[in-house]
Amino acid sequence: MTIKDVQAVVLAAGKSTRFRTEKSKLLERICGREMILYITKLLENLKVPTTCVVGYQRELVQKIINKSHNSKISFVAQENPQGTGHAILCAQPTFCKNNILVINGDMPLIPETVVEDLYNKHIETSATISFVISHNSDTSTGAYGRIVRTNGSIEIVEAKDFDGDAHEHCFINAGIYIINRDFLDNYISTLTTNNANNEFYITDLVKIASQKGYTVTTVTAPFDRIRGINTLHELWVAEQIKRADTIKYWMGQGVRFSLAQSVHIDLDVEIGAGTYIDCSVHLLSGTKIGKNCTIKGFSTLANAILGDNSEVKPHSIIENSSVGCNAKIGPFACIHENSTIGNNAIIGNFVEIRESKIDSKSTAKHLTYLGHAHVGSNVTIGAGTITCNHDGQQYQKTKIKDNSFIGSNNSIVAPVTIEKNTFTTAGTVISKNKSHSSEENNTKKQPHKCSQKNNSQHII
Ligand code: UD1
Ligand code: CA
Repeated sequence: MTIKDVQAVVLAAGKSTRFRTEKSKLLERICGREMILYITKLLENLKVPTTCVVGYQRELVQKIINKSHNSKISFVAQENPQGTGHAILCAQPTFCKNNILVINGDMPLIPETVVEDLYNKHIETSATISFVISHNSDTSTGAYGRIVRTNGSIEIVEAKDFDGDAHEHCFINAGIYIINRDFLDNYISTLTTNNANNEFYITDLVKIASQKGYTVTTVTAPFDRIRGINTLHELWVAEQIKRADTIKYWMGQGVRFSLAQSVHIDLDVEIGAGTYIDCSVHLLSGTKIGKNCTIKGFSTLANAILGDNSEVKPHSIIENSSVGCNAKIGPFACIHENSTIGNNAIIGNFVEIRESKIDSKSTAKHLTYLGHAHVGSNVTIGAGTITCNHDGQQYQKTKIKDNSFIGSNNSIVAPVTIEKNTFTTAGTVISKNKSHSSEENNTKKQPHKCSQKNNSQHII
């Protein structure tokens, strides 16, 4: 639908006092996305031009918004925030449309349909103020303004100023309003701080409009969709709801969960059909999982790519890295810092791969560290093998070329290149490149009796 002649003002300047973290709550992430971006993205989808009122930690709030919106959202500063009424007063110089959609920055669960319903009702009734309310007689669910209707008039009484019966006045104010611009221009400066918080309340405009005989309309929305986030507990509840929405979506796409309530999935994660997600798995921003994969318990994938039919066994971490198809990872594996694991590779128990490339069909099944290394395809890395990749000053590179067999407990002292088809025995320390003519070869250990892979094999 098209929302016409409306501009949005997002209130994002508050001090977040009730969070007690000294950080603006609007910067806290819910399923990987900062709280304020839920609102700004919703308004972007609805194509409503938007201004954010910023104050507390405004540089940080602006930076997050600018990054996601290519600097298309404008800002006004609310120096020394004195309430939501003061916030809209600060935005007044930006008014250029006939209707101002004011929306709290701390309601991340609101769907576009609620804003569309509000707009439709506002236009249909030619209202001066339209706002969203929700049924809630349970005062323990948070500090909301209550809707009090008396003899045809309507007002919002803030939680601290309300001493009535919540069952009788069982609707609360959601914190989204469409207000006629002329009305705002005329009455915004009449707000006072005559209340328990000593603040200017935007909500007092409802009483003013109603008493002066202007049309005030409301639309209702489910409470879970309009929850405001004032405390860390409310943040946790909101994230639970968002997480449940996300998991429901992926179930609909053919993803099977063993204990869905323990799984966390960020909003931008992608998962292929037929994949199985076990308990306490965390799938964080940027992660893309192919079809028919298995992610076993307590594993974390962050900005990770996993090809089709791959398996991640319990307690594994894949971070900023990619794994091909039909690979097996873990248990207790850590693949991180831009590593790439090829198709059909096996990275097993207690193996760390850092800034390395492991090509297809290679295996490092036990107790290994491969850092700044390129391991070719079809290479076997024996248990306990370490690339000694730091010379005390900087990182050095290791190359292990195709079809090599590295025996158990080898120390590979970088920089070093191990040629194709090399066979090393258990406990070897490799600190120089293989040189056929060098006498050094004589100082190297003799190979154990091992079956050789082919005739051209180097043996160290
Ligand atoms: C507000 C409403 C309340 C409603 C509830 C819904 C008022 C007075 N009350 O209360 O009726 O039920 O939302 O969640 O509006 N902000 C500013 N500048 C300020 C103060 C706040 O920009 O000076 C911003 C905050 O950053 C926040 C939003 O306005 O994003 C709402 O402020 P908040 O303090 O959370 O209002 P509530 O007490 O929740
Ligand atoms: Ca709030």
